[in-house]
Amino acid sequence: MGVLDGKVAVVAGGTSGIGAGIAERFVEAGASVVLASPVVEEGEALAARLGDKARFHRTDVTEEAEVSALVAAAVAAYGRLDCMVNNAGIAGRFGGIAGLDLAQYERTLAVVLKGVVLGTKHAAAAMLRQGSGSIINTGSVAGSRAGYGPYDYSAAKAAVIHFTRCVAMELGEKGVRANSISPGGIVTPIFAKALQLPPEQVGQSFAPLEAALARWHPIPRAGRPDDIAGAALFLASDAASFVNGHDLVVDGGLVAGRSWPQQRAATEELVRALRPPPPGA
Ligand SMILES: NC(=O)c1ccc[n+]([C@@H]2O[C@H](COP(=O)([O-])OP(=O)(O)OC[C@H]3O[C@@H](n4cnc5c(N)ncnc54)[C@H](O)[C@@H]3O)[C@@H](O)[C@H]2O)c1
Repeated sequence: MGVLDGKVAVVAGGTSGIGAGIAERFVEAGASVVLASPVVEEGEALAARLGDKARFHRTDVTEEAEVSALVAAAVAAYGRLDCMVNNAGIAGRFGGIAGLDLAQYERTLAVVLKGVVLGTKHAAAAMLRQGSGSIINTGSVAGSRAGYGPYDYSAAKAAVIHFTRCVAMELGEKGVRANSISPGGIVTPIFAKALQLPPEQVGQSFAPLEAALARWHPIPRAGRPDDIAGAALFLASDAASFVNGHDLVVDGGLVAGRSWPQQRAATEELVRALRPPPPGA
């Protein structure tokens, strides 16, 4: 028996990386899952691999009519909606504030923030009708700590985390919970896409990325989609029935502080600066 037996979930941004990991875990746990993204081939292939408990619905989360149709399709297919994972995202663009590209900023805000707002709105309407549900929005460590993402992305993620908290205050008394998950550095194609690497390289050459991300975390490894899927599984399940308005940080300790090697190096530097050099040195 799975912890999500009989439950119905939508995973927006569910065809790649973290979302694909969440969809796979949810199906294994017994849920019926609708995967959504604009990438038809990828979505249909993943749905076919996950079997008859998964289906794909082509959706651009920046278009309200498409998000509304996505939720309606899940309810029409399965009769209810127990969990909405608003996970679609793009990485934004690095660069100084004086050179900010407004069109890129608006695009990032549209996918990362408006997409979450629309997904929450339409899922909430369905969940309020049935008096239960769990909304899970993907934040980021970049939403609570400066220096982990571009301006557009970081601002949008901070807004996602706070928006989720605000919505939780309204929906909690009506049986609907809303929480966010803030991943640390997770090995997914988002980095290759941000660097506009050719499509054949997206999803490949992960070893250098793993090594680079491992250096971010006090637990010295890169995060994996399954690390985030475990957190989403908990928030979707009845085990989290009293968890509401929470930002569940899954980052190997990154936002908690400096890792032990970083602390040791900083302390040694301080001691070197304070201690006078030995005579004759
Ligand atoms: N990988 C990381 O280190 C990391 C860290 C923190 C947060 N996140 C967040 O996790 C989420 C998933 O990212 P990922 O790393 O798995 O990247 P990814 O590129 O593998 O997945 C992103 C997903 O969003 C979908 N998407 C993009 N634009 C969309 C749109 N307009 N409408 C619908 N779907 C759209 C993509 O098709 C894809 O399925 C994002 O919100 C991202 O910001 C990732």
